[in-house]
Amino acid sequence: MNSELEIVLSNNTRYKEAYYEFIEMHKNGHGKNDTPEQLAEFEKWYAKDFLSGIKNDSDERVELIKGERIVIRKANIADADFMSDVERDSDNSPWVANWPLGWRIAKFGDKDFLQTILEKEDGTPIGFIIFRNMADVQTKLELKRIAIIEKGKGYGKEALLLAQKLAFDVFGTKYLYLGTREANVRAQNIYKTTGFIPDMPDPCTKFHITEKDYRK
Ligand SMILES: CC(C)(COP(=O)(O)OP(=O)(O)OC[C@H]1O[C@@H](n2cnc3c(N)ncnc32)[C@H](O)[C@@H]1OP(=O)(O)O)[C@@H](O)C(=O)NCCC(=O)NCCS
Repeated sequence: MNSELEIVLSNNTRYKEAYYEFIEMHKNGHGKNDTPEQLAEFEKWYAKDFLSGIKNDSDERVELIKGERIVIRKANIADADFMSDVERDSDNSPWVANWPLGWRIAKFGDKDFLQTILEKEDGTPIGFIIFRNMADVQTKLELKRIAIIEKGKGYGKEALLLAQKLAFDVFGTKYLYLGTREANVRAQNIYKTTGFIPDMPDPCTKFHITEKDYRK
């Protein structure tokens, strides 16, 4: 193992547990790494991202965009427990996966991912959005996951409109897209009412919005 990572893990029990828990999950067939070679390859890049996730972490509050009632800010490792609680919420868990801590930390170190927190004006977190394809954001961006705990108050709608503003006006993407499950009618409705265009007839599991559609 990378000696820098070894030092980090030996100094932080929580990180160490999270790291090995995830490696064990993979060894037990959680991922798609069936052969020892694939597993060794996986461990190599996982270790690299995990270490970057920890090295890039900060206590700084970085606001990405501000809406009428909510703000989208960058998430930090300190937000990981909150994000996990949101994913495990009984009204969210049928629709979104729950990332183990070790995986989330590695995703903080993966340049393709941007994890954000949705906050009310008073600083209370109400959910999160994860974006993917940040490494090629000018071409297209995926809104990989959105989940909210205070539902039915219009926060989801505002968050999705704000996410579009962030994607097109701040990140300069040309194409924002997302996927959902067939039975997730609630999410499909809200995507339609916020201007996302269905890629297929109902039930629609894929949506997109281009920069041109956004600026109409
Ligand atoms: C999908 C989600 C983000 C929406 O957030 P929200 O804050 O509850 O949504 P809002 O209060 O802004 O409601 C937005 C619209 O959805 C409608 N809506 C709310 N609940 C609904 C339901 N159960 N069925 C159908 N439509 C519903 C509202 O009527 C509203 O439409 P309107 O403004 O035209 O009246 C949230 O419900 C959530 O976290 N769901 C679980 C995780 C999830 O499914 N994520 C998406 C994975 S792809």
